[in-house]
Amino acid sequence: MKPNIARLRPEQVLATTGSRSDVPIAIVVDSTALGQALGGCRLKPYAGWRDGVADAERLAAAMTEKCALAGLNYGGGKAVVAVPAGPPPTGAYRRDVLLDVGDTVAELDGRYATGPDIGTAPEDMSVIAARTAHVFCRPEADGGSGDSSGPTAAGILAAVNVLAEHERRRLTTASIVGLGQVGLRIACGLAAAGVRIVAADLDQRRQRPAEALGAAWVPVHDALRANVDLLVPAATGGLLTRDLVDEMRCRAVLGPANNQLDDPQTAEALHARGILWAPDPIVSAGGVIHATAIEREGLTAHEARRRVARIGGTLAAVLDEARRRGVSPAREARDRAAARLAGQSNS
Ligand code: PHE
Repeated sequence: MKPNIARLRPEQVLATTGSRSDVPIAIVVDSTALGQALGGCRLKPYAGWRDGVADAERLAAAMTEKCALAGLNYGGGKAVVAVPAGPPPTGAYRRDVLLDVGDTVAELDGRYATGPDIGTAPEDMSVIAARTAHVFCRPEADGGSGDSSGPTAAGILAAVNVLAEHERRRLTTASIVGLGQVGLRIACGLAAAGVRIVAADLDQRRQRPAEALGAAWVPVHDALRANVDLLVPAATGGLLTRDLVDEMRCRAVLGPANNQLDDPQTAEALHARGILWAPDPIVSAGGVIHATAIEREGLTAHEARRRVARIGGTLAAVLDEARRRGVSPAREARDRAAARLAGQSNS
């Protein structure tokens, strides 16, 4: 029997060494069942290149779910650049790294398009664009849709409102872990709504902007265990572990970090403890929704923002259906994504 290659997941793994920069670059195309694989380019140190590949694999699979749940006709992929430990690359060396990423994206001939992620910004996308057309989120002055962290934060805030309605309780306290581009914007939005905030980040330079918003600065360990209405994971993934669940004292978890759970079973542990977890592939989709709406569909900024706000409706539908079925929101989200992928996997 002829094997069904389209159903191999990941569909393709490309690991290489940048010819200019000598850094390991991995691109994983998880699925193109719904369309071109989409996912940002993550630039950070890894213990070894295989760790970078493994991370890209997990992140690409999350992008497949993200696009499927957002109703987008895109698949999932991710690029990971395993830079040496220490300060991030700058100057001519950074340019070489990004040109190498561009060449690697170009090798995939349109099966994958990249964008910003942890460690990369819109200006970097312009450098990548010198080598491939398959890149989102160049600065607006350069013809792109610009920074995706604003739309990502807007999607989270829309989802937070829905969560409060679903739980029929006012949100008065929140703990935010990760005060980067997206986390800080979320903190801003919540503070403006009168929410009391505790905040944490491994990077102590984030303390000052967080405190400027009125947030109380605490160690990451404490922020994860804070007695609050809402925990917002806005750092790198894997923060929520099985052991941590027993010590958590929040009522709900909703944030933009990709792959928040160390393991899918951790969602069931949260559910069993009565902590509502809003699946990250649903609520973190603002960036891709906004970028594709503007750069591929030609929508206006206003229309794109309205589309991002629809994340609220998607989350409401998933929470309602999960409650009706008596399953965790994680399970309902997974089932929905799988159904959409199965329905179109032959096209
Ligand atoms: N890195 C973001 C994500 O994981 C945003 C992104 C926007 C990626 C546009 C690709 C294209 O969703």
